[in-house]
Amino acid sequence: MFVNGSIAPRTLGLVGAKGGVGTTVAATSLAWALSQRGLRVVLLDLDLRSGQAALHLCERNAGPTVGDAMRVMERLDDTLLDTLLTPCSPSLRLLPAPRDWAAWPDGPDEDASALLKLLRTATELADWVVLDLPAGAMSSAHFGPLLCDLQEVALVTEPTLPATFNARRAWQWLQDHRSAPGANTLLLNKVQRHTGLPSEQVRRTLGLDGEADAWRELPRSDAAVAQATYHGQAVGAVDPKDAWSRAVSRWASELEQRRCSAAPTTTAPTAEDGPAVPTQPAAAAPPRPWHERLLRWAP
Ligand SMILES: Nc1ncnc2c1ncn2[C@@H]1O[C@H](COP(=O)(O)OP(=O)(O)OP(=O)(O)O)[C@@H](O)[C@H]1O
Ligand SMILES: [Mg+2]
Repeated sequence: MFVNGSIAPRTLGLVGAKGGVGTTVAATSLAWALSQRGLRVVLLDLDLRSGQAALHLCERNAGPTVGDAMRVMERLDDTLLDTLLTPCSPSLRLLPAPRDWAAWPDGPDEDASALLKLLRTATELADWVVLDLPAGAMSSAHFGPLLCDLQEVALVTEPTLPATFNARRAWQWLQDHRSAPGANTLLLNKVQRHTGLPSEQVRRTLGLDGEADAWRELPRSDAAVAQATYHGQAVGAVDPKDAWSRAVSRWASELEQRRCSAAPTTTAPTAEDGPAVPTQPAAAAPPRPWHERLLRWAP
């Protein structure tokens, strides 16, 4: 479980509150930024039906996929997984989402224990394992155990009403089901001055006014993100001075500091530990602006 026998590897999953909020761009950029610090990073694209992480990191068609790993799951170990990963940069390797779904007649995400085994095996090979998860994964019984197992989860959203509506429900799920709620981050992407819901209102809607640690913003950066996607590279590789690249780099630095300051014996709770104990719901938010009334949803 330990890399270099000293600092424990860490797992981070990015999950969108809604489709199209920027989860994949954030996951690929963050994985790349961590690897730029000399860390060994494995990115698993678990958006099994429509994952596109490979398009953001490899100019060529990436090799074996999560589907190939699933086919050999019974004998999967670190040695075998090592042969399946596609190098994207000296210390960043990717296992892309399947290009076909032939391996799963009932749908590609039917096996929660296989997903957990894949995650655990990947930790044998990396300092950081980053997961690109499908939007709303917490509503899937198959992804729930995985989300509970991860040490860090970033819920990605954008400053729009539909995304905020979903984010509130998803954030509550994370608070209720993860036994390490302190390691949940709300990532507000595509932040642009004078456009969309103000960040403070999104924060208040999610009950995060006082929780600076759980909150992170990434700017809207159309030109840099579009250029990076066009070249099949991480945003930081194409335009390191862009505001987005700098914000992601700061995030990578803080994550790594947290990994280094964690006690080496700290490990993630496992499925064997039993279900996570739900935490108390967040305290009621102060006065409600108009959009919060719109965002009231049936439990
Ligand atoms: N900060 C940003 N600034 C500008 N454009 C962005 C930003 N983040 C993401 N985008 C754009 O938003 C679109 C969706 O991004 P992405 O594919 O990463 O979202 P996603 O949440 O992974 O979507 P899906 O649910 O389909 O997996 C893309 O066109 C991407 O280039
Ligand atoms: Mg995606």
